[in-house]
Amino acid sequence: MLKRLDRIKAQALTNLESINDPAALQAWKVKYLGRSAELAEVLQDLPKASKEERPQIGRRANEVKNALVAAYEEQANTLHKKALAQSLVQEHLDVTLPGRPRLKGRLHPATQTLRQLFRIWAEMGFQIYHSREVETDEYNFGLLNMPAYHPARDMWDTFYTTRSGIILRTQTSPGQIHVMRERAPEPIRVILPGMCYRYEQISARSEIQFNQIEGLAIGHNITFADLKGTLMAFASRFFSQNAATRFRASHFPFTEPSAEMDVECFICGGEGCSVCKDTGWLEILGCGMVHPLVLQNGGYDPEEFSGFAFGMGPERMTMLKRQIHDIRYFWRNDLRFLEQF
Ligand code: PHE
Repeated sequence: MLKRLDRIKAQALTNLESINDPAALQAWKVKYLGRSAELAEVLQDLPKASKEERPQIGRRANEVKNALVAAYEEQANTLHKKALAQSLVQEHLDVTLPGRPRLKGRLHPATQTLRQLFRIWAEMGFQIYHSREVETDEYNFGLLNMPAYHPARDMWDTFYTTRSGIILRTQTSPGQIHVMRERAPEPIRVILPGMCYRYEQISARSEIQFNQIEGLAIGHNITFADLKGTLMAFASRFFSQNAATRFRASHFPFTEPSAEMDVECFICGGEGCSVCKDTGWLEILGCGMVHPLVLQNGGYDPEEFSGFAFGMGPERMTMLKRQIHDIRYFWRNDLRFLEQF
């Protein structure tokens, strides 16, 4: 038995020396130290040995076991160090390097302006009303006092679908009819934001698609003074506290009287520069008192109700504020442009 133990020890230690990987080391452990290892067998057979031999064999078996455990641990340790040294050489991971920056998105400049406008109009008591972008000819023109023969239609040439009478809206004004028909005879105070489409010779000043924000207020005794006061209050919030404004008579078929509002050029302070084309003024919106026919088409009695409407272009206003010289940048998706905002 003692000889057998010596042989087990010698064999185990020789085998251990040639082991190079963790899997083989694990197999070695099972084979020599596991529950069905030869060493365990020897211990199991201990009762069969004679009384005199028994303590001696027991002691030797323990010595062998301790020696094997110690050798195993040493080998495990060596293998671990080797693996570490190897990974340090092969895998060049430098934990002191800075991490990869996370790319942060941002809001499109037009969206930023829209949100600012929504906030200002909300403060002034205007709800947002979303109206459709695909419209009928009737809503976009007819109900806004532009029958089929009306020359004003030329200003708003648009995209026609293959279904007759179905077009992409050229302006947010058809939304006026939608809100009125939904709310009549309640008073109304809303803005109608969204995309409009026009068939244009594309230039630095016009695009085939752009946002508009329409405003509409309907009620009793609303006058042109309310229109002016509201828009001036708006200009002082959006541009600057004491932004000078002026109203010029204009024409829209769906408002009477109609006007265009200018704000004093904030680039040159009214002196005249290339942005305001030496006029000292920047045109920012069209507006007017809702035409009696339009009120009627919306379900309001023009004898009893009056109202004002306006339409502004958020991209245009962003251009003025941020001194962008070409409206086509907005929908070109060029990061060099977008990342500046
Ligand atoms: N819809 C007009 C345009 O697109 C703007 C406007 C809106 C004018 C409301 C008057 C009243 O040019």
